[in-house]
Amino acid sequence: MPPAIRFDVLTLFPGIFEGFLSESVLKGALATQKIEVRLHNMRDWAEDKHATMDDRPFGGGPGMLLKVDRVVPCVEEIQRQHQSGRLLMLTPQGRCFNQVFAEELATEQQIILLCGRYEGFDERVAEILKPEEVSIGDYILNGGEVAAMVMIETVMRLVPEVLGDENSNRLDSFSTGNRILDCAHYTRPREYRGIAVPEILLSGNHAEIARWREENSLQRTKEKRPDLLKSVSNDSTLRSFAVENK
Ligand SMILES: C[S@@+](CC[C@H](N)C(=O)[O-])C[C@H]1O[C@@H](n2cnc3c(N)ncnc32)[C@H](O)[C@@H]1O
Repeated sequence: MPPAIRFDVLTLFPGIFEGFLSESVLKGALATQKIEVRLHNMRDWAEDKHATMDDRPFGGGPGMLLKVDRVVPCVEEIQRQHQSGRLLMLTPQGRCFNQVFAEELATEQQIILLCGRYEGFDERVAEILKPEEVSIGDYILNGGEVAAMVMIETVMRLVPEVLGDENSNRLDSFSTGNRILDCAHYTRPREYRGIAVPEILLSGNHAEIARWREENSLQRTKEKRPDLLKSVSNDSTLRSFAVENK
């Protein structure tokens, strides 16, 4: 069976991904071919002997820019290998990545992640390739590699059979199945430094446990992230909770 999803990462620093891809869940998903990650060094598309990828900005100013005539041919070659690929350019100016966006991406067959460096890309890269621009948050990284890793890890968890328990991501915080924060969880010992596990979780009454978890989830969302309750105000259960707890 081919991998459910293939990530093509275009970067100037493929070495950054080495440890990331060779540990834990990601290592397993690659070994069992549930997903595939192909790293492409954009320098391989530079034609001069110094493999120049960047140049000074017209008009002056600090920093260097990734050259349009290096980046575009490289992306186009990868796109030719897989017609249905979704091209995402990492930039702090893009659509903000979140769990619902990750769920949408997990249904794709190929995702191309274009990592910037320096002061970013010559503007014509976006004009020509028309990528979807994606940000992982309102702060500035040195390059797109860490952002690409965040996206790969978030999306791959949603690919069927990657996690041991299929249900484990269904109720994760922010997911479509939940949309608010996950509830509190406990494991052994039953008591530590005078703090006991809530009695209901030891009762074996699954209906009561489910109710406790739902209430705990709502309560901690109200305390830690009240903004999330506003965004789910169309849901009747959550709406009544939000009204009652205003
Ligand atoms: C130093 S940043 C360039 C920032 C750019 N001059 C600006 O202010 O919008 C270099 C590269 O890092 C990546 N990057 C930085 N912050 C990011 C973020 N929050 N999300 C996604 N990619 C980011 C992008 O690929 C970007 O081209």
